[in-house]
Amino acid sequence: MGMGEEKLQSERVQSVPLEKARTFIPGLDDILEGGLPRGRTTILHGASGSGKTLVALEFVYRGALNGEAGIFVSCEESVEQLRQNAATLGWDLPAQERANQLFLLDGRIRPDTLASGDFSVKGLLAIVSGKRREMSAKQIAIDALEVMLRLFDTPRQVRSEMHALNDWLQEAGMTSILTGRPPSRFSSPFEDFFDSMGDCVIRLDARVSEQVTTRRLRVTKYRGSGTGRNEYPYVIGEGGFRAAPISTVGLRHKPSRRRSRPASPGWTKSSAEAFAEARASCSPGCPARARQSWRAPSRPRCARAERPCSTWASRSRKPRWRAMSAARGWTCRRTSPRAA
Ligand SMILES: Nc1ncnc2c1ncn2[C@@H]1O[C@H](COP(=O)(O)OP(=O)(O)O)[C@@H](O)[C@H]1O
Ligand SMILES: [Mg+2]
Repeated sequence: MGMGEEKLQSERVQSVPLEKARTFIPGLDDILEGGLPRGRTTILHGASGSGKTLVALEFVYRGALNGEAGIFVSCEESVEQLRQNAATLGWDLPAQERANQLFLLDGRIRPDTLASGDFSVKGLLAIVSGKRREMSAKQIAIDALEVMLRLFDTPRQVRSEMHALNDWLQEAGMTSILTGRPPSRFSSPFEDFFDSMGDCVIRLDARVSEQVTTRRLRVTKYRGSGTGRNEYPYVIGEGGFRAAPISTVGLRHKPSRRRSRPASPGWTKSSAEAFAEARASCSPGCPARARQSWRAPSRPRCARAERPCSTWASRSRKPRWRAMSAARGWTCRRTSPRAA
């Protein structure tokens, strides 16, 4: 080891990982390796309908459910619309509002208010500041920022308002999400500045390929942290936003140690070993058809041997199993009260 290298080693300090705030959104924290950068800003891009509002709202709502009070500023939808949309996903926003864990602020501006010169982002932030102190809020989402900013006439005004917002966010030290449309080819002053405000940038994307829409999420930037680098599919449905961190999840399910003999002729011992008697032969993510073809061969033979077999537990309904068995020339008999 040379002198220079020795000096470097002696000067090296232990690394300090970035503090993260969990979003509690299924799948997202795995992709983000723990959550959003705590006390910093995350930018969420996406085309209309890609789910930006939902993700931002779910972050604040789930935070509130988990004891982190939060504020949601809506620049596009009314507060009542937000409550109604959230209810379709089974979220009870009013309950969290009553508990003072969630505050929904209508940040929409009427063009005439702007024309009268009465509006600036600073005015809005003064209201937020008061609420933040009152609730001890640590999280904030500002949704559809560009809707508000495009009301300003000149690029200079837009830039100045964004600087004011950026300064406020840094000073407040809240974990924040700002949502907006993706940058266009001819970027505006808003877009130029928008990305640079974020320590973390997430892009939501819905694309149509062969008449099928697929929704994907990608983390394009995360200062000070590693993150899943792929595009991850996501869905929006009952319960809210669900991302599928396909390449980041580990297999956490412990397989059963109990083994049963394979029921079909020609199966080798190794397949018997793989064929655990418990439900774990195939993972829950395995396509239904694959699960069934693993189970199907063992079923009639076990039945004939009058051997109760847990692989019988099937999600298929009985008539479907009967039809499948009949098509293969198998006869099913009742061998236990729960079977057949
Ligand atoms: N209750 C629901 N069930 C299923 N999908 C929903 C539900 N509510 C909203 N969505 C989906 O979310 C999309 C709207 O998400 P939103 O966050 O408003 O998009 P953005 O803010 O990016 O324009 C809708 O296009 C719809 O596909
Ligand atoms: Mg929206």
